[in-house]
Amino acid sequence: METSDLDGLRILTGNANPELARAIADQLCVPLTATEVGRFSDGEIWVSIADSVRGADVFVVQPTCPPTSETIMELLIILDALKRASARRITAVVPYYGYARQEKKVKPREPITAKLVADVMTMAGASRVLTMDLHTLSIQGFFNIPVDNLPGGPILARDMEARGLGRDDTVVVSPDVGGVGTAKALADRLSAGLAIIAKRRPGINQVEVLEVIGDLEGKRAILIDDIIDTGSSLVSAAEAVAARGAREVYAYATHPVFSGDAVDRLQKSLIREVVVTDTIPLPKKKRRPKIRTLTVAPVLGEAIRRVHAHLSVSTLFDQYWKEDKK
Ligand code: R5P
Repeated sequence: METSDLDGLRILTGNANPELARAIADQLCVPLTATEVGRFSDGEIWVSIADSVRGADVFVVQPTCPPTSETIMELLIILDALKRASARRITAVVPYYGYARQEKKVKPREPITAKLVADVMTMAGASRVLTMDLHTLSIQGFFNIPVDNLPGGPILARDMEARGLGRDDTVVVSPDVGGVGTAKALADRLSAGLAIIAKRRPGINQVEVLEVIGDLEGKRAILIDDIIDTGSSLVSAAEAVAARGAREVYAYATHPVFSGDAVDRLQKSLIREVVVTDTIPLPKKKRRPKIRTLTVAPVLGEAIRRVHAHLSVSTLFDQYWKEDKK
């Protein structure tokens, strides 16, 4: 890559996932723009950007993961600082979009917080958004600025193939009806079978498996989900497919929210391995032998390079799928 191609490109980060931001910057051979994001004694956030960004094409890497209110507020304040410092274009790189699961009113008098977050990000100064595996595609429409939603599927699929998981004795399982599209694409790619779990949530963060559709007898099951939060969906799904005769169960997901005792729940479960990505950092205290992390830095780095160069981002996905199919 010619360094002149990257003229005027700046990468900044808040405190949400600085390791990922550094990995993206390394990938592009661009230094991170020194940015301090601290707290006053009353907890208010202050931001100081060391270098000029006047006229620059700036990318702020900040997943809005837990502590969600803090990471969102940091992002908004960084965007505001960049806007007031005359950055030419500001892309919010939000590998994990927090509040995405509050994207519609299910009951009267509920908020649509995913839309509220989109509004405040735009108001604070974002000119575009680069994200990955949005929980629901319709969130793109909550923004009146361009949104590039990168698929995590190729990264996960490549790992499954490298480990020899995708053979004809394999069934890809969607742990809920909403994930069927992703599971079907993966099953096609792996030449595997497809199974679907119908679940319901009797209360907040609770899961009840209603039905398993598909043949699992003697098969290897690969559960695929976008988010692991409490881990309840995947652990219940694993038990359900094992009860239907699956001989071993693996789980793949893009975003490891891992709230509460999720990591211990997964470690104790019958799932053999849980593979996630680094859209959200995994602190040492949450690491467990069964949990393995793949990096999304090369894909995000290449997408940033393309956005900066006004090149197609969607052909990047084609390229990934084509390369993987060779
Ligand atoms: C829900 O629709 C999502 O796709 C995930 O299945 C869900 O967020 C996982 O949550 P938990 O790990 O708490 O069951």
